Amino acid sequence: DVMKELLGLRTLEEQVEQKLGVKKVLVVAGNSDEDHWVKHELGRASISELKTKREPNDVIAVMGGTTLAAVAEMMTPDASMRDVIFVPARGGLGEKVENQANTISAELATRAGAQYRLLHVPDQLSEEAYSSLVLEPSIQDILKLIKSARVVIHGIGEANTMATRRRSKDTFMEKIEREQAVAEAFGYYFNREGMIIHKQRTIGLQLDELDKDKYVISVAGGESKAEAISAYMKYRPSDVLITDESAARRLLEIE
Ligand code: G3H
Repeated sequence: DVMKELLGLRTLEEQVEQKLGVKKVLVVAGNSDEDHWVKHELGRASISELKTKREPNDVIAVMGGTTLAAVAEMMTPDASMRDVIFVPARGGLGEKVENQANTISAELATRAGAQYRLLHVPDQLSEEAYSSLVLEPSIQDILKLIKSARVVIHGIGEANTMATRRRSKDTFMEKIEREQAVAEAFGYYFNREGMIIHKQRTIGLQLDELDKDKYVISVAGGESKAEAISAYMKYRPSDVLITDESAARRLLEIE
């Protein structure tokens, strides 16, 4: 679009596409670290991407976080989404209610006039509880639906910020420092090379289930997240990255 050309954002998008090996990068103006409205711009771009990619009877899996919460706020009514089902991609990760995947998927569906299903699982699951919960028929039904999702939309966080926000134990804080985690996505933590150094136990999509036929949209902005975005894209380059100008410029400086 003309505005993007004028602001030089299109060039930035192409440079980031090349740098990260991501087919499609969308850059909005601003820095979401400093201005909250930039998250809504990320949201606007995300909703338009979701609407373009949507197919009848789609299942769309969504993750949590403040960015995805802002995405949901930008959803508008859409008659063509009536049969779409929104589901949380994974269970609780220790976030406040408004930042949980369940809440965000319900919000997206309600605003669009689409469908949603909730995944009721506690945040802290012991191995035993986890193994018996996944056998519950009602849980199995929603899990099947989640795993069938064709589109997945999620945020990316800076490791330390996310671990602190989720009130992680000291032993975990020490682990991410020791193993130099820089990124978090889907409740997984990654080092600079994009290697998984920790996985939070919860029901839902496991990262190795993000196979090639799923269309994955990552949404993350702010200079503070550049390192995290770069690390996560080494693990699995998404189909689309929606980011902001500050993150994009910083990304280009990373070696
Ligand atoms: O799951 C949370 C994301 O990885 C990042 O959260 O959008 O609040 O920065 P955020």
